Amino acid sequence: MTEPKPRAPRKKIFVKTYGCQMNVYDSARMVDVMAPEGYAEAATPEEADIVLLNTCHIREKAAEKVYSELGRLRALKNEKAGRGESLLIGVAGCVAQAEGEEMRRRAPMVDLIVGPQTYHRLPEYVARLANGGPAIVETEFPADDKFDSLPAPERRKTLARGATAFLTIQEGCDKFCTFCVVPYTRGSEFSRPLARIVDEAHALADAGVREITLLGQNVNAWHGEDAQGRPATLGRLIRALAEIDGLARLRYTTSHPRDMDDELISAHAEVPALMPYLHLPVQSGSDRILAAMNRRHDTETYLRIIERIRAARPDIALSSDFIVGFPGETEADFEATLALIRAVGFAQAYSFKYSPRPGTPAANEEDQLPDAVKDERLQALQALLGEQQLAFNASCAGRTMPVLFDRRGRGETQLVGRSPYLQSVHVEDAPPHLFGKLVDVEIEDGHRNSLRGRLRENEFVPA
Ligand code: 5AD
Ligand code: SF4
Repeated sequence: MTEPKPRAPRKKIFVKTYGCQMNVYDSARMVDVMAPEGYAEAATPEEADIVLLNTCHIREKAAEKVYSELGRLRALKNEKAGRGESLLIGVAGCVAQAEGEEMRRRAPMVDLIVGPQTYHRLPEYVARLANGGPAIVETEFPADDKFDSLPAPERRKTLARGATAFLTIQEGCDKFCTFCVVPYTRGSEFSRPLARIVDEAHALADAGVREITLLGQNVNAWHGEDAQGRPATLGRLIRALAEIDGLARLRYTTSHPRDMDDELISAHAEVPALMPYLHLPVQSGSDRILAAMNRRHDTETYLRIIERIRAARPDIALSSDFIVGFPGETEADFEATLALIRAVGFAQAYSFKYSPRPGTPAANEEDQLPDAVKDERLQALQALLGEQQLAFNASCAGRTMPVLFDRRGRGETQLVGRSPYLQSVHVEDAPPHLFGKLVDVEIEDGHRNSLRGRLRENEFVPA
């Protein structure tokens, strides 16, 4: 009898994600495309044969983090070389796209630099490198569609990692806000076909996903054709997805005010699965600054959209992005932003100091503001947004709302989930079988960053 052949040791890949939710989605796809090549996912960089950093270039701080991580990886690569092992270091995503060859000069130990639209070619690049080929820098936008080269959804190992999932439906941006690198790093706007999105959503639902967040840099600019060949926008797509059995919740992010059409607004009124939450970045409350940012909307238009969306869904939780210290922003401009915040009342928001990005028009403006002014304005802005967030969360106390438990909390018996309004809800004494389930929770109190609630008696019955 012959000895069974020893199985070749599986190779491993580790992908570290920076930045936005789309990078989270892309990182999972990078693992997917390497799986047929015999790569399993590694839990740590130490046990990996390939480490990929999937990077973000949106602000300087995000980009700089990549270089500190590369310093650590260089040490790991040397250590492994000392043991006769190899480590392939790759940088993917928006820093790779924006810096290309420049990154090779700054970090020569990097073997592979690949932009966000080319990661489907990873197997080919890795094979070339394994055969002793030179380092690869690939920042051209390819003519083929990376989504077409991915394994079919039901064959993806990383398809579902719990009850919630991201699904990219649109990528890139043609709006060219003067502060933003996205049109340069992600390229021009592209919508995935409706049928493909519906297929992927079906596969997710079959794998146990209850909540899908549709992703796009300009998600509400998504457009395609419905099954009858008629033009469709995001509202129509949401209605199609809401029909899928098992999917209880739909969300989408990030939207642009210019693309909030009637169909999408009415979906908020009519589709129960569409959660009452809207992230609609306004960036500034000053019309002068909005024009300088090339946002192509003014505050009046923004406020009118908010009115319409509230008419459709009165309890909607509103979220936004703000930039303080854009070039030329005066005290009066900043006050106008505070006034807009007071007029709207946000449930939560993200706010940033303006960060000049190489290659964007605003970076060349002469009237850049000192960091101290940006700091001061950011603090004032965040204090106001923090008050609004606390007020919104506190107003939820006493209500009962469905919570989808998607994280284990501290200790054995705490579960954490999301409310319809995307708040984190912590529940003590929750039986473990409720993990991944949608459960009614009585909210006891609301803090700045989360809610605390308790289960109703009947939820204790074991599943
Ligand atoms: N500086 C600061 N914030 C920025 N954002 C985009 N570009 C910059 C920049 N150069 C913010 C915007 C955008 C969010 C994703 O990041 O608010 O909506
Ligand atoms: Fe950037 Fe503006 Fe496009 Fe958003 S809409 S990705 S901020 S250029």
